[in-house]
Amino acid sequence: MKTHKRSSPVTSAPARITLQTLRDMRAAPQPIAMLTCYDFPTARILAAAGIPTLLVGDSAANTVLGEETTLKATMDFLVTITAAVRRGAPGVFLLADMPFASYPDARTAALNAARFLRESGADAVKLEVDGRHEKIVGTLAAAGITVCAHLGLLPQRALQQGGYKAQGRTPAAAQRITEDALALVAAGASMLLLEAVPDEVSRGISRRADVPLIGCGAGPSCDGHVVVLHDMLGYAARPPRFVDVLADVPGVIDGAARRYLRDVTRRAYPAPRHQYRMKDNPPAE
Ligand code: KIV
Repeated sequence: MKTHKRSSPVTSAPARITLQTLRDMRAAPQPIAMLTCYDFPTARILAAAGIPTLLVGDSAANTVLGEETTLKATMDFLVTITAAVRRGAPGVFLLADMPFASYPDARTAALNAARFLRESGADAVKLEVDGRHEKIVGTLAAAGITVCAHLGLLPQRALQQGGYKAQGRTPAAAQRITEDALALVAAGASMLLLEAVPDEVSRGISRRADVPLIGCGAGPSCDGHVVVLHDMLGYAARPPRFVDVLADVPGVIDGAARRYLRDVTRRAYPAPRHQYRMKDNPPAE
């Protein structure tokens, strides 16, 4: 009797990217690609493309809501969209951005961060910080919350920093960011994200802090790099200098919208193939 050999089923899901994966990538060294992401279908595409780490940034206030500043992103909004990204990308290392004023003290920060991770399924939270946040970072770490300390340009404090300007460009400013980063790692931060600083700052920190270091316009010495997805996809009128625009997504949407408009206007849509038919005899006219 002829036997049919059954093809072996896929028994294991693709490996989940963890903090340890990122540590291993730093050690290898193997550059870490991170992108921001704000919705389920895009998360599926980015995960399928092999992007190992996604950040649901409060930049969603700008990119998705059309607000001027990131201050408008609320906890409820970010929890909702982060959970959507997690559904689309179950295997990636998912970083959740703590919104403006959600970490004013250690207790409030711990409660908000715990809620964020519990309700969204993210792996870690990111806080925009400086040396004054040692206690907050330490409390979160002690509570078992993986913390990414975001230093350099801090969009939530753009007013205090005098606008959206590169940071750490003088020896004194570079030293302050470096000391803050080292203090926050000593307090328990498991990752660092440096935004808009010279590579010299990143290199100095990377040599002295053995945690995955993600740069956002912070030079090649970082272990990984993140850009705002919408900047990369051609949505920004003036993308930052460190972003390559790799696609014209607005152009694709514009083309589809114009074609749809034309088809509806000329009555080319809906065609017979788009229509439902009565199951029985049509009603008498
Ligand atoms: O909110 C965000 O997208 C960010 C990146 C710019 C790092 O924090």
